[in-house]
Amino acid sequence: MFTSKPIGFVSSPYKSAGEVPKGLGAKHVAEGVLKILPEFEPGLKDIEGFSHLMVIWEFDRSQGFELLGTPPCDNRQHGVFATRSPRRPNPIAVTTVELRRREGSNLHVGGVDMLDGTPILDIKPYLSSIPEEKLRRGWLAEAEARKS
Ligand SMILES: C[S@@+](CC[C@H](N)C(=O)[O-])C[C@H]1O[C@@H](n2cnc3c(N)ncnc32)[C@H](O)[C@@H]1O
Repeated sequence: MFTSKPIGFVSSPYKSAGEVPKGLGAKHVAEGVLKILPEFEPGLKDIEGFSHLMVIWEFDRSQGFELLGTPPCDNRQHGVFATRSPRRPNPIAVTTVELRRREGSNLHVGGVDMLDGTPILDIKPYLSSIPEEKLRRGWLAEAEARKS
C-alpha cells in the first residue's frame, strides 16, 4: 500500500463540521480554493478546460469508523459503503467541485464541503458518462420520497 502525501490543502469557509450544510436537500455552493503545493503545479497543466473536478481528500479530523450508521439525511441505518460518512475504514472522501478559475497553483472552486485546511490527495477531471435514466439513488431516493 502507498503512503499518502497531500498535493495541497483546501481553503474553505468552514472551520467546524457543524457549519457544513447537511441533510436532505442540502446544497453545497460554498466557494473555496484548492491550494496546490508548488512542486505539483506542473501537474495542473490544461486543467482550465474542465468545468468540474473530482477532488479526492482525507477526512483528517475524523476518528475511527462505524460499519453501520444513521446519516443526517435519514432516520434509518445504512452500511458505511452505502453512505458518504466521514467515519470509514479508510478516511478518503471525494467531492465534485466547479472550477471557476485558476491562479497559478490556486484553483478557485465552487461546491466545497471540506473543512478549512483539509489535505488534498488527488484531483481528476469530472467526466460524466452515465445517463440520468441509468442512475439509481438507493435508500436516498426512498428517504427523499418519504420526506415529500
Ligand atoms: C458527508 S461527508 C461527504 C464528503 C465527500 N463529499 C464525500 O462524499 O466523500 C461531508 C462532511 O464531512 C465533514 N468533513 C469535512 N471536512 C472534513 C475533514 N477534513 N475531516 C473530517 N470531516 C470532515 C463535514 O462534517 C461534512 O459535512
